Amino acid sequence: MKTNIALIGFMGTGKSATGKILARILKKKYVEVDFLITQEAGKSIPQIFNDEGEIGFRDKEINVIKIIACRENQLIDCGGGVVLNRINIDRLKQDAVIVWLTASPDEILRRIAPEREGRPLMKGKVKKSEIRSLLNFRKPFYERSADLVIDTSNLSIEMVASRIIRELQEYEIFNP
Ligand code: S3P
Repeated sequence: MKTNIALIGFMGTGKSATGKILARILKKKYVEVDFLITQEAGKSIPQIFNDEGEIGFRDKEINVIKIIACRENQLIDCGGGVVLNRINIDRLKQDAVIVWLTASPDEILRRIAPEREGRPLMKGKVKKSEIRSLLNFRKPFYERSADLVIDTSNLSIEMVASRIIRELQEYEIFNP
């Protein structure tokens, strides 16, 4: 029986908002991978990208996932690019059901517009075509990682959370 749930998906698909609600309902510890990376590094995500590039950020992401993948009963809110390194998913899968949140490029653009500065990959004026091409590139990575997939485009955060809970009934998940 698995004890963790990991949320994956592109930026702006609602991983953090949904994750916090789910953690509360399912009595799991909410763990945000990006936050742990900034804590460990002592600097923000944009600073890490600036000083060490995406490669440096991905190394830190691998280290954090390695540590938390061995812990139990967590709701793990992963950064959008966690799927790019297979080792992350292999480690998470040992004790997590992996839930992939999706949204349309229009919806993603609308949701990330106010928070672009905190996301180095979406900095400046982002075009829908850029989101679409990054989404297309990443789609196979998400597909091969996910146990279940939820399209969040027309759903409220609460609706996404309750749909995930319903779909999780197929999986044996430990709840205290
Ligand atoms: C990234 C997504 C971000 C963060 C970093 C890289 C990505 O997390 O990890 O900026 O590669 O998609 P969110 O998906 O929580 O925005």
